[in-house]
Amino acid sequence: MNLPKHIAIIMDGNGRWAQLKRRPRTFGHIKGTRVAKKIITACSRRGIKNLTLYAFSTENWFRPQAEVSLLMQILRRYLKRETENLVKENIRFSVIGDMSRIPADVAKAIENSIEATAQCTGLHLVFALSYGSRQEITNTVREIARRVEAGELSADDVDESLINSTLSTYPTPDPDLIIRTSGEQRLSNFLLWQAAYSEFYFTDVLWPNFTESHLDEALAAFSMRQRRFGKVSSNDNMEKFSN
Ligand code: IPE
Ligand code: IPE
Ligand code: MG
Repeated sequence: MNLPKHIAIIMDGNGRWAQLKRRPRTFGHIKGTRVAKKIITACSRRGIKNLTLYAFSTENWFRPQAEVSLLMQILRRYLKRETENLVKENIRFSVIGDMSRIPADVAKAIENSIEATAQCTGLHLVFALSYGSRQEITNTVREIARRVEAGELSADDVDESLINSTLSTYPTPDPDLIIRTSGEQRLSNFLLWQAAYSEFYFTDVLWPNFTESHLDEALAAFSMRQRRFGKVSSNDNMEKFSN
């Protein structure tokens, strides 16, 4: 089977799942974290090289303060509890997003997990935290403008590969497959540049109900896709089109 080298997941629907059970939204986030743990292990065992999980967007800061701080504490507890397991499973952890807005105790837990797993060579796990793609692109443009201003680069040096290597996702390859749960069909400011040729997989399943077999369904769908990257597929030829 043709496996994606990089899967990115928009883990959506925690709040609605909790609401259906007449429980507070945070109950959904706690269940969602358990699901994330399962899916991380599943990807690692299937030999996926990169997994990016959209855990908290720039816009999510505008949620009620109680929900935001609970989400941050859930994250901190997850990292404290799971880092040892990540090392055992040879999973290297990293983050993308604006860490300057993350509370100090959470930032510390993040730093610890990055350090503890730095030598791991299996799955590369990325949490997109306080992440927004427009903000990332804005930072990239600013950084390149500074280098031009400083005379290190000229405007003509600005090309796709320079932009790629200045983005926070570098050197992770672009996502081959982007999964979004909960029935929403949008990117919500996630990896806009990097998703230029990603395959999309949308499912109505709410994130807390997402299982390994749903992951396998997404992987099976991906392996059936024909990716052309703007070209014609290798077994097509021009005569076929002119007939
Ligand atoms: C996704 O679930 C988790 C985060 C955005 C942190 P939501 O909290 O967005 O759940 P819904 O979309 O309201 O159901
Ligand atoms: C996107 O979900 C962000 C994460 C899953 C972390 P949202 O629930 O925030 O997105 P919208 O508001 O439905 O677009
Ligand atoms: Mg949502």
